[in-house]
Amino acid sequence: MIHLGVNIDHVATLRQARYAGMPDSHNAEPSVLDAARAAMLGGADSITLHVREDRRHMQDADAFAVRREIPLPLNLEMGATPAMLEVALRLRPDFVCLVPERRQEITTEGGLDVAGRVEELRPLVQALLQNGSKVSMFIDPVPEQVEASAAIGAPMVELHTGRFANTLGAERCAETRRLVDAAELGHALGLEIHAGHGIQIANLPDLVAVPHLTELNIGHTLIARAVFVGLQQAVHEMKQAIAAFAWK
Ligand code: PXP
Repeated sequence: MIHLGVNIDHVATLRQARYAGMPDSHNAEPSVLDAARAAMLGGADSITLHVREDRRHMQDADAFAVRREIPLPLNLEMGATPAMLEVALRLRPDFVCLVPERRQEITTEGGLDVAGRVEELRPLVQALLQNGSKVSMFIDPVPEQVEASAAIGAPMVELHTGRFANTLGAERCAETRRLVDAAELGHALGLEIHAGHGIQIANLPDLVAVPHLTELNIGHTLIARAVFVGLQQAVHEMKQAIAAFAWK
């Protein structure tokens, strides 16, 4: 079955809203570790967190605590910078997903321009691989980006589904086609295919058209649902919804 990576960044966002100056204080809440545990109990296959350059939500200490305490694979999302490489080499997450980062964005907008940064990204990807982290590139579903990801030796890509999620009708059809083509191409090039951004239970019936997917990374909708039913239940519902589709 398709794996579910649960992104718990928003739990840290909520904590930082009150405790930004003192995230380690005894009364700081909600707990990122408790969120990871709840996600695990709900059936998460991995925990995803994004340590941003501006540390606006996840702190380095969160990542190291999850790595130490949670017996699930850890997927670190990070910008492709020397400073973040240094953190990742110490953290040794199971997976690293390289994402573009702009300080002003609310969440990751647009995929990483791998094709335009091949020479810069190649050594970074190789350093992570040699350190034992499997690397994926978060890219828009366009052929040049898929080909460039394979060319620099990344074993996985995560296809950006934001546009797919934010459109309907003919536009969504066209975007689904782009995702299908990118997934076919990536698979043919030997890449593992993941997808993420804006995925909800409501758009799984359309996403099921995309072949070769082995993992979905989902955050916002799970935390939104968790406000009402708790995170364990929200993750459980998503797992059941994914299981209900016979993904090719
Ligand atoms: N994958 C990547 C690379 C992301 O940056 C994000 C957003 O943090 C997600 C997946 C999850 O997206 P969402 O929160 O919309 O489910």
